[in-house]
Amino acid sequence: MTEAAKWIVKDPAEEDVYWPSKEMKKRAWISDESIYEEAARDPVAFWAERAREGLDWYKEWDEAYKWEPPYFKWFIGGKLNASYNCLDRHVKTWRRNKAAIIGVREPIDEEAKVLTYYDLYREVNKFANVLKSLGVKKGDRVSIYLPMIPEVQIAMLACARIGAPHSVVFSAFSSDSLKDRIIDAESKTLVTCDGYYRRGRPVNLKDNADKAVEGTTIENVIVFKRTGGEVRWAEGRDHWWHELMKDAPLYYKPEVMDSEDVLYILYTSGTTGNPKGVIHTTGGYMTQAYWTTKWDFDIHDEDVFWCTADVGWVTGHTYNCYGPLSVGATQIFYEGAPNYPEPDRMWQIIENYGVTAFYTAPTAIRMFMSWGDEWPKKHNLSSLHLLATVGEPINREAWMWYFNTIGGGRCPIIDTWWQTETGGTLINALPGVGPFIPCVAGRSFPGTRHEILDEGGKPVGLNEGGYLVQRPSFGPGMLRGVYKSPETYKTNYWSQYGNEAYYTSDGARMPKEKLFRLTGRVDDVMKVAGHRLSTAEVENAIGGHPSVAESAVVPAPDEIRGQVPWAFVRLKEGEGSDELAKEIRSHVGKVLGPTCRPDKIIFATDLPKTRSGKIMRRILRSLAKNEAVGDLTTIENPACVEELKQKVGHKAAS
Ligand code: PRX
Repeated sequence: MTEAAKWIVKDPAEEDVYWPSKEMKKRAWISDESIYEEAARDPVAFWAERAREGLDWYKEWDEAYKWEPPYFKWFIGGKLNASYNCLDRHVKTWRRNKAAIIGVREPIDEEAKVLTYYDLYREVNKFANVLKSLGVKKGDRVSIYLPMIPEVQIAMLACARIGAPHSVVFSAFSSDSLKDRIIDAESKTLVTCDGYYRRGRPVNLKDNADKAVEGTTIENVIVFKRTGGEVRWAEGRDHWWHELMKDAPLYYKPEVMDSEDVLYILYTSGTTGNPKGVIHTTGGYMTQAYWTTKWDFDIHDEDVFWCTADVGWVTGHTYNCYGPLSVGATQIFYEGAPNYPEPDRMWQIIENYGVTAFYTAPTAIRMFMSWGDEWPKKHNLSSLHLLATVGEPINREAWMWYFNTIGGGRCPIIDTWWQTETGGTLINALPGVGPFIPCVAGRSFPGTRHEILDEGGKPVGLNEGGYLVQRPSFGPGMLRGVYKSPETYKTNYWSQYGNEAYYTSDGARMPKEKLFRLTGRVDDVMKVAGHRLSTAEVENAIGGHPSVAESAVVPAPDEIRGQVPWAFVRLKEGEGSDELAKEIRSHVGKVLGPTCRPDKIIFATDLPKTRSGKIMRRILRSLAKNEAVGDLTTIENPACVEELKQKVGHKAAS
């Protein structure tokens, strides 16, 4: 490769501020900041133009946007199909034999599974016919429990082709978590596999799926053979993917979907113990997925995009499936662990496939940092033109390391703020516009508007902390509701500031006019290694252990994972032990999944409570952060705070 281009320049006057270079401005889809003003003048017209230009519609909408608080709709009466937009329109062009998905396997000696757009098109059509043969029709929910193998996109797009909303469940979630999600969605079909590889070992996923489907509405389980390991089999219910696919017809006519028909449901953690099913519809979501992929990561036909998120999370839905495929990009999809067989696996993949845009989470960056510079240094990363992050606030040290060690000081870092609810990115710098500043996400995406408010609903001043909200007209990719729970939708997002603003539950401040710095969740949602988890879910799981009387879970800061759960536990009788702590942790692992296990269990004879008996989590949060515990006058049992301080080695002055 010739000498790598320099995509950014340092601001001559300001420390830590970078701008796009001339090369970047020339390359970028958007390099003129007037786009923001233009979009702000008439956001609805702006998005309507984007929808028209970016997607293929069977019929144009009658009305672009309608706001009936707290519900809004986009492209009303418009007709399209998401899978058509990701496949059919590309196979009609030269992109037919372009690589759509490069499925890199974990075992180093296994060839990558490369699917061209035409391959993917055929597989999706066949799989749609398979689903149909099992009785799946428009409107039916299909649960998908698959690891990072291209069959997951095949299954998702086949659902979209039929108009059957999918509910993808993270493959590291437990059978109980899968079961809850199947029950809520009332799915009759589950797509899973025998197993997958994790750090060289095959993991049996079918076992989990078997436990989950018992006693649910599931009638058919389609099993993809990945590892060839032994699996249990329920005759009549279980079907091998390859057997069903063998004679499946090669074409399935895409269902003509309404813009507001549901594309998928994705369960995410809220402040209660039960995950909520966030609803995304078709036209608006696809519009935002298309344009954010193209503009944020500056994707052109020659690019190779790699988003490392697991497909079980929203980032995987939008930037491993609907976004890159609708723009016709080539993407990497990696099955395995980042440090298998060695800690340079990611850098080796970037070098091997000439990845140009790389999108990962701050947690992963901190992990890479901790493994040492020698691993990326072994590889030529000059193909990269852009780096991006998502999922949690990034600390300055991680930003600088990513910028210098991975980007060679040549690439912008696009720090994208968004949520499961928003469907696509909303706050970030555009690569051809900038600025790129450590820990500052940037501006609202053109055509959207965010503000930071105080408790009373007034905008805060520069650099003052407050609550991040979105103002109407709302981004087209935003959620349209919570599955079977309109109350949750209203109270979670529309009760804080009425119908005037969508409440994000995030803290933020503005270091400079229009630029947002995100400071983390202000509710009981934790971001553990970038994964969204509610304290109440972990408390519920702990409460299921027979020895536990009550517990309170709070986030504690962690150098690598950002936050980790700490559990304060009162037992029914007796004192805690290391043995019991281990047992409780593994119990949570079984109930929720290994990623949800508390980092630390603190046994207490009592938990701090108000006179009315409510646990004072504020105090526990301060203990976990090693901050002053503050006012104790309303506490019923102050003595327990001293006990807890000693147990956690709390040093901050009160
Ligand atoms: O707190 C914010 C944080 O992640 C939350 C959303 O989590 P989830 O629904 O799992 O979606 C993650 C991927 C979109 C937000 O409420 N968050 C996400 N991106 C950022 C962030 N915090 C700071 N900076 C970000 N770039």
